[in-house]
Formats: sequence, C-alpha cells, structure tokens
Amino acid sequence: MAKSLYSCTKCSAAHSKWSGQCDSCGSWNTLSDEGPLATGPSKTLGGKRGSLITLTDLSTEEYPPARTKSGVAELDQVLGGGLVDASAVLVGGDPGIGKSTLLLQAAARFARNGLKVIYISGEEATAQIRMRAQRLNLTDSPVILAAETNLRNILTTLDHEKPNLVIIDSIQTMWVDHIESAPGSVSQVRSSAHELTSYAKRRGVSVIMVGHVTKDGQIAGPRIVEHMVDTVLYFEGERNHQFRLLRAVKNRFGPSDEIGVFEMTGKGLVEVKNPSALFLAERREPTPGAAVFAGIEGTRPVLCEFQALVAPSPHGQPRRSVVGWDGQRLAMILAVLESRCGIPFSGLDVYLNVAGGMRVTEPAADLAVAAALVSARENKPLATDTVIFGEISLSASLRPVSQSESRLKEAQKLGFCRAITPISKKNGEITGMKMLEMVNLVDFIQELFGSS
Ligand code: TYD
Ligand code: MG
Repeated sequence: MAKSLYSCTKCSAAHSKWSGQCDSCGSWNTLSDEGPLATGPSKTLGGKRGSLITLTDLSTEEYPPARTKSGVAELDQVLGGGLVDASAVLVGGDPGIGKSTLLLQAAARFARNGLKVIYISGEEATAQIRMRAQRLNLTDSPVILAAETNLRNILTTLDHEKPNLVIIDSIQTMWVDHIESAPGSVSQVRSSAHELTSYAKRRGVSVIMVGHVTKDGQIAGPRIVEHMVDTVLYFEGERNHQFRLLRAVKNRFGPSDEIGVFEMTGKGLVEVKNPSALFLAERREPTPGAAVFAGIEGTRPVLCEFQALVAPSPHGQPRRSVVGWDGQRLAMILAVLESRCGIPFSGLDVYLNVAGGMRVTEPAADLAVAAALVSARENKPLATDTVIFGEISLSASLRPVSQSESRLKEAQKLGFCRAITPISKKNGEITGMKMLEMVNLVDFIQELFGSS
C-alpha cells in the first residue's frame, strides 16, 4: 500500500506519518492527509526519502515580523525596531565591556512589558546576578533567573516553562552532553548555538546569546555562531571610556549597520540620545591635528573628531598607529598626500585617533583624516566651526558621499557653521551653513593651509 503524506495545516510542514502534534510548529491536531506519497527509490542520500519541502513563489505576500519593543530606544533601534518574535540574536563583545549589564537591563524592560523572560547565566551564580540587579535598581522586575550550563537541562526546563524570551550568558559556557570536548571549544559552542537557534524556531521563542570575543580571536568565539543566528550585535567601546556602542553587523530583520550609544555609569548603562554632542564634548581650543567629521552610522548622523599627531621618528621604519579607523585606509591617504599633493610623511611617526572611543568605518572620513594629518604636520589648527566629509580617490579627486544633507543638518544642529565637502548637487541649501565645495585634494589643502 502506498504511504500517505501528511502536512500541517498551520505551518505546512510535511510529515511522513501522522501524529497528534506537528513537530515543526508544535500545534495540535493540524496534520491532514495529503494523499499517497509517490513511490520509487531515490538513488541519493542512501536511497532514503526525506519529507517534502514547502515550495512557494516570490510574489506571496509576507507580513512584517511581529516585534516586541524593550523600551530601551537605543537597543530597539539597533534591532531594527524591537526584538523579532522567535528570532535568535547574538550579542558579542570583549569580556568586561558590559554585555551582562546590558542584557540584564534589557531583560528587566522586556519583562516589565509583559514578556516572560528567563535569564540563564553559566558564568555567575544567581546571587551575583541579584547583586548586579540591586546595583541597577531592577530587583522588582519579574525576570526569572537560573545558573546552569547543561543545555539538555536548560532546554527541558524551557519546554516546561514556556517563556517568550531566553537570555543565555554566555554561549561559551554551555555544553551538550553528546559531545566530549570542553565547554568553549568550537564543537561545543557550535552545537549549543545550533540547539538554541532551533529551539527558538521550533517553539517560537526569542533567544539572545552572549558571546565573548577576544581581540586575537583565539578562543572559539561567536564568529562560528554568526551564520546560525538572525541578528548579530557587537557591543564595543574602549574600556577606559564610558561610551559603549551597540552595533548591528548582521540583521535579517533590519538595517545591518545601525548603532546604539550608551554610557556606562555607576548605575548601569544609560542611553545616549545625542551621540554627536557626546563625542565632541571634549573639544575646547583650536588644536593642530583635530578635524571634525560629519559621519553617518546606520541611519543616523554622528559627528566625531579625528585627532592626528605627527612627529619625527626615531625609528628606521616610522610608526603608523590608528585607533578607531582603518589602518589600510590611513596608508592610502598618506600615499595620496605624498605623491599627489607633495606633502611627505617619510621619517615621521603618524598617530591617528577617533576621540571618545568611537570607531569609524566610512570612506567618507577620508577628507577629515587628510585635514587632521596635514594640520598636525604643519602645526596649524583648523577652524573649530568647520565640519569636513568626503571620499578621496587615488588620483586625489574628491568624491561626493551619501546622505550629505543629513550630515550637514546634524552639524548645524551642533553649532557648526561651515562645511567642506566634495562638490555635489545633493548637498542642498542649508540656511546659515557656509559651504565650501571642492573638486580635488590639492585645492582643499591649499584652501585650508595656504601654500605648503
Ligand atoms: P559586565 O556586564 O559584567 O561585562 P561583560 O558581561 O561584557 O563581561 O560589566 C563589566 C563592567 O562594567 C565591570 O567592570 C563593572 C562595570 N559596571 C559599571 O561600571 N556599572 C554598573 O552598573 C555595572 C553593573 C557594571
Ligand atoms: Mg558577563
């Protein structure tokens, strides 16, 4: 007799035999008989048949995924407008940067918004977490805590408790008992993350996992987990600065370059609503080597200051040291300044830093970097009322960059009244903003520093 095929009327998952519950979506009494399964052995996969997969087309209407907001605006924004139901999220970052603090605060907010939240720590005892909660003034929020590392026990408990959101701190401490290697090893981290993401999809529960990264990436870091999850956020910052950036590096449900800005205080993380004001707060007198860049992070404009120091080098090979920007890009700009503008940097050590612990990745910062470098080398400060942005090509011509209007508006909001940019139709008219539009780097240097 030909075997029948059954499919779930709710999620359409195919099953080779009937059962009371769909093991894909968990609904009861939804399997319906789809008629006899075509027979005849397949030569692939050892002749064993799998179940039929659902085929569809591109035009089928999709509804936007359901989301829950935490109420921490900076976090919701980075997630793309709140946490998507049944999604798996990885929050990576250096040890000690504040991941546990962030997630405990988020857990408390989600719990207050009506989600059943379970926070499972493999790193700290529940007493320690409670102490942190006390410091953060969160003891009255209904978060459920556990200290456990055995994933089988955790999943069994979760199936029993049926939460809406699970936080796992951290993925490196979790272990599955069918693998021999130690927690934190590549195979343990990979299997644990796989178990947790499939749990998320199967049960419709959101899972947020913490992953430690080390600078040298030596231990089994979250990198191997990144492709398994829907969203990857990195929490970063300089340890001796209070500012912390939460940066989306992958997001199946939102923009992947969004940032959220926080400040680490004695009472936990506080949202920073106006990051530009914060990054520029330290500016005082006009200083040689400082240039203000009007950047875009994700969807929002962020102003920050590039600081350069150029000094005669005691070394045979001069130093090139960069914090907060790309070292390769710095080398390129030095080369363009040297060969196209006749400003040599050989025999000089070059240090470049983005103030406030900010990290910039846009090539739009090229022009601000060039300005900072030449200003430092010539020991001539730039005007403090000026912002700069633009990309530099290898031929020293200046290329317009995207979203110039929002960069300019942000600059104006913060009291800047002059902007130097590549010439572009899209710059727009901003009342009260003096625009200096340039075509190439040679003219730009000439304009800023006279003949040099
Ligand atoms: P933590 O969240 O434990 O970092 P991670 O989980 O990423 O390893 O936070 C680490 C640091 O944050 C720790 O050095 C203490 C500091 N901190 C504060 O400054 N204020 C606070 O309210 C809390 C809870 C921590
Ligand atoms: Mg921690």
